[in-house]
Amino acid sequence: MVVGHGQVLIHLLALSKIKVILTKVVVTAMAMGSHAFKCLHQHVSPDKIFIEPLDSDKTELLLIDRISQEISLKQNEGQIPATSESKQIYGIFGIIRLLAGPYLIVITDRAQVGTLNGHTIWKVTGTQVLSYTKTTFHLNEQQVQDNSRYLAMVEHMLAADSYYYSATYDLTHTMQRLQNTSPEFQQMSLHERGDVRFIWNSHLLLELAQQQELAKYCLPIMLGNVSITPCTIKGDAFNYTVISRRSCFRAGVRYYMRGVNSEGHVANYVETEQIVEYQGNKCSFVQTRGSVPLYWSQYPNLKYKPDPQISTIDDHMAGFESHFATEVYNYGRQVIINLLDQKGQEKELFSTFTDVTQKVNNNNIRYEPFDFHKECKHMRWDRLSILMDRIADEQDQHGYFMVGRDNSPVSMQKGVFRTNCIDCLDRTNVVQSLLSKRTLQQQLEKLEIIHSSQPLESTAFMSTFNNVWADNADVCAKQYGGTGALKTDFTRTGKRTTMGLLQDGYNSAIRYFMNNFYDGFRQDSIDLFLGNHIVDETECTLKPSALLTERDWKFYALPAIFLVAVSMCIISLLLPDEHLGEQVMYVLFWGGASLLTLIVMYIYGGEFVDRPKLVSKSFKTE
Ligand SMILES: *[C@@H]1O[C@H](CO)[C@@H](O)[C@H](O)[C@H]1NC(C)=O
Ligand SMILES: *[C@@H]1O[C@H](CO)[C@@H](O)[C@H](O)[C@H]1NC(C)=O
Repeated sequence: MVVGHGQVLIHLLALSKIKVILTKVVVTAMAMGSHAFKCLHQHVSPDKIFIEPLDSDKTELLLIDRISQEISLKQNEGQIPATSESKQIYGIFGIIRLLAGPYLIVITDRAQVGTLNGHTIWKVTGTQVLSYTKTTFHLNEQQVQDNSRYLAMVEHMLAADSYYYSATYDLTHTMQRLQNTSPEFQQMSLHERGDVRFIWNSHLLLELAQQQELAKYCLPIMLGNVSITPCTIKGDAFNYTVISRRSCFRAGVRYYMRGVNSEGHVANYVETEQIVEYQGNKCSFVQTRGSVPLYWSQYPNLKYKPDPQISTIDDHMAGFESHFATEVYNYGRQVIINLLDQKGQEKELFSTFTDVTQKVNNNNIRYEPFDFHKECKHMRWDRLSILMDRIADEQDQHGYFMVGRDNSPVSMQKGVFRTNCIDCLDRTNVVQSLLSKRTLQQQLEKLEIIHSSQPLESTAFMSTFNNVWADNADVCAKQYGGTGALKTDFTRTGKRTTMGLLQDGYNSAIRYFMNNFYDGFRQDSIDLFLGNHIVDETECTLKPSALLTERDWKFYALPAIFLVAVSMCIISLLLPDEHLGEQVMYVLFWGGASLLTLIVMYIYGGEFVDRPKLVSKSFKTE
């Protein structure tokens, strides 16, 4: 795999985070202060971009020279030309280099999500991508074409509508992680001390982060969902927050990114934290999800569900262990809830996973398989209580994080449930929301908001809870699968309904088209944005274009043959013929030919799907 130097650096940082925190030279950071600028003005002139912080007592300016591409910090001595285009911005998303040169991405709009731990949390609702160069005359024709393709990828990523940040708070960390930090941690800049797994603009900030004095311009941004809801139960007001943080390691789309990699990162890894804030008390409960941590793939091939392919050459045990070493380090004890089908298409993956867990000798890992579809078939979702009962003891042992009014620790969370199904979307969402509900009941009892004889289900708060979790499910599903989640009727209403089944049918159809004909582009967009692919200026000159794909003759010939056959079929159907028998013959022949071509296309399905061209291109289709 080609990894940008940014990612390597980030990865190293991830591994030695604690050491960094302890040994980091804090002298400069102290002087910097720990917040990012909240509000800035951007002034654009033909050869310079000035970024002027509005919430700084000093009169400084970040200056980007559009020609030399240099970035520097200057005293504001009135050097901003009066003719420059000015607008208010809320932060720098980052800088990305495409074929035409660097592009500056800034946040132009935001929406307040709510207050967390006294800090305002924002959602990014508008961005602007500004090219340093004003023309593309310096590029050849292919480069112009590729550059606009790259730009479309960047725009696609920015359109995700799920970026969140705070200029004053560590949104990428759980409450428990923040509780356990050293004083030095607080002195570091927000960007430096963020959890690298969840900062989606790390690569984009690289050029700014290289200069220590620009720390306050480096705003870490996470991708996922943050929902903060002020609630009341019987007159007691509390804030209910659910944060889902998507990992940027092994990030990708459903069928192109599966399983584990050699660094122990898994696809579709998401940390979900539920927080209750009540009269200065804070409770938090964390869960994780991620792809089955083995080496496997499931590339799209026009089939409704391609068969999962389990690697026969990679060392599954090594992948598993490297994944869980990090997980145990980060969260403590692990209970793996495996919701895969134990027969049919998912069977082999299920049994390989089970075998590996049985060979592992680690007290910190427990394995809990539950065949969701089998146990809950015929809409018997009440049977999920079987699973919940089996893990109740462990849930109690893990406990949850809580600090009292004076910020003194009351309890810590000692372990997590790590849930997976095949996509880690629909079945996983359902189980996660049940686990959260159970812990929430305990937390609200502890805070004396509800009484132990009063089940949460009986309160009006339940509809808030259900909608928050259904929204959360939709976000994870959109980003990985391409559509909203399935089964959210259950999450929203507590019941599986016929309407829900129909909605799921519709979403499944959209997923099918997205996954087969759009996901190559979506995967490339992620790889470009995260710096897994770094655009090389010599692409399309000294080097070949990175965006060209070699297609087999079948890719061009079969659809053409199909079109001809279908047209001929229609023509023979519509043109009157003197001999009915002959006409029927023609129609049958061309109809048969169309059908045959379709079947051949289906057999060679892998040739027709939209494949990634950048990092994840070198996969084999079965
Ligand atoms: C709850 O949220 C509201 C609105 O964001 C905020 O004003 C209030 O201070 C928050 N309360 C707590 C306990 O955090
Ligand atoms: C995610 O969170 C926001 C609040 O920031 C909320 O408005 C939205 O509905 C959530 N869900 C989705 C699907 O975006």
